[in-house]
Amino acid sequence: MCGIVGYNGRAQAASILIDSLKRLEYRGYDSAGIAVFNEKTLEVFKEKGRIVDLEKTLPAVSGTIGIGHTRWATHGKPNKINAHPHTSGNIAVVHNGIIENYQELRDRLTASGYTFVSETDTEALAHLINHYYKDNLIDAVASALKDIRGSYAIAVLCGSELVAARKDSPLVAGIGDGGNFIASDIPAILKYTRRMIFLDDLEIASVTPDGISFYDVNKKPVEKTVKTIEWDMAAAEKSGYEHFMLKEIHEQPRSLHETLAGRIMELEGTINFEGLGLSESNISDISRICIIACGTSFNAGLLGKYLFEYLAKIHVDVEIASEFRYAHSAPGSLVIGISQSGETADTLAALRVAKSTGCRTLAIANIMGSTITRESDDVIYIRSGPEIGVAATKTFTSQLGVIYLLALYFGKIKWTINSDQMKRMLTAMKQLPSKITRILDNKEMIKKCAELIASSNDAYFVGRTFNYPIALEGALKLKEISYIHAEGYAAGELKHGPLALITKNTPVIAIATKGQTYDKMLNNIKEIKAREAHVIAIANENDSEIEKYVDDVIRIPSTEDILMPLLSTVVVQLLSYYVAKTRNCSIDQPRNLAKSVTVE
Ligand code: AGP
Repeated sequence: MCGIVGYNGRAQAASILIDSLKRLEYRGYDSAGIAVFNEKTLEVFKEKGRIVDLEKTLPAVSGTIGIGHTRWATHGKPNKINAHPHTSGNIAVVHNGIIENYQELRDRLTASGYTFVSETDTEALAHLINHYYKDNLIDAVASALKDIRGSYAIAVLCGSELVAARKDSPLVAGIGDGGNFIASDIPAILKYTRRMIFLDDLEIASVTPDGISFYDVNKKPVEKTVKTIEWDMAAAEKSGYEHFMLKEIHEQPRSLHETLAGRIMELEGTINFEGLGLSESNISDISRICIIACGTSFNAGLLGKYLFEYLAKIHVDVEIASEFRYAHSAPGSLVIGISQSGETADTLAALRVAKSTGCRTLAIANIMGSTITRESDDVIYIRSGPEIGVAATKTFTSQLGVIYLLALYFGKIKWTINSDQMKRMLTAMKQLPSKITRILDNKEMIKKCAELIASSNDAYFVGRTFNYPIALEGALKLKEISYIHAEGYAAGELKHGPLALITKNTPVIAIATKGQTYDKMLNNIKEIKAREAHVIAIANENDSEIEKYVDDVIRIPSTEDILMPLLSTVVVQLLSYYVAKTRNCSIDQPRNLAKSVTVE
């Protein structure tokens, strides 16, 4: 996944494709490539690294139709072979998203005589389109799309035909002067046109030099509306959101969907972690887990502790990476390192210490090919896509997505959860992205509460059991981007000290969703209210009890009790964002902080 561009017109395509790809560089990528049809043959150029590296290798390429891609690896290492475009005969394909049944397609196409050279899911798509191609690219693409499961935005080049399609991954067509465009993101083509048409799911576009036609998957023509984009380039990079953080918060339905894609078989009650080296017998033998991480990733790890202990009955220690390496050891444990960047120096050093003492290591990471993923025995990718805001948001919910699945997976193997529980949990997990969308569509109460917090010097987040890590994450987010002093506490711990700090000037955000400690949480809220603090509760939408005890209630959709923390997370992210915005803070680049902390 990352950036797609396509052009069919009267100008030379290569320079337009390169220029358009450069406008997507801010999104991050690990390799880039273009394919151009030069009126006789298909020419493909790709390179690992930056677009300038690709540019240096480009000969003078002649041709007025082509496609281009910046890749951010999800299937297969970041290298030249795995870079897009992928080809099959005269067909070249660039793709964002995940083809969930790619292994099945790969087996089928290999049996039909196709040879695979890359490790990507996209190559299966190129061969599949070739398999169906007779003399019309739209027909071939439409047939191929019926065979694939998963998410995609694709641009396909075959001779003088350029066809694009989407499902669950953005794609926009642009109407230019003397040529037309396709792109995954508006900034790619904003220099060339402001007249754009947004494709909807399961739509196909045929881009010619003179126009763009749209079809559904049954090749029935579809009428589309042209929109004029008024954004400047800076606004376009953020898809019109004021900050990357807000954009990334709103990307969570899609990023979580990608995290779970192809891994959940809810009807069978099974989970598939592609390429995980831990066998069922390895997992049966695990009696201890040690999770190592920093910052937000640590908070994800702490929820992991609750989940592994509850679902798989495995004892878990969670250690701050910078402490673990000097003060702790984990003999006999499976050591799980959680790191979005995969480059955090403390986490890397701690994993090396664990490995040197004979522990098996498993990385949960976002960036494919990062140091931690290369040095760990096993890796599970969270597949969030690039995150630009320093404050981790979508990568946190994707980390949680993987951890929930992993704890369920271990529980199934250890017979600590039964098949009905498994099916129920997996069905509920599949519904989480749409529940996040509902939270994002109803932000008024969150904005109102943020205004109150914005004028405070201190704030407290409290929760019990599964909600406690989210209290820590809420406090971390708030202090990180709004510079308000904030703490997260296990609510039962308040009366052992922190309650002395609670006054009418200290707003308290109580994560009070339904679960085994709900009644105890109400008691904690009463203790807080007795000190006259303003209490904002995050609660289930159908909870009619909570409003008796608190000042404000932010209601969120209900799901399985133990999944509620993932939904509460979105609320604490938005609260922190709107507080920081009210205080006019530098949200995407908070003072003193860096996205990737590569020093100890
Ligand atoms: C959170 O918003 C921060 N960006 C920070 O705490 C971060 O989670 C921490 O530095 C760990 O980073 P990692 O996940 O890349 O290892």
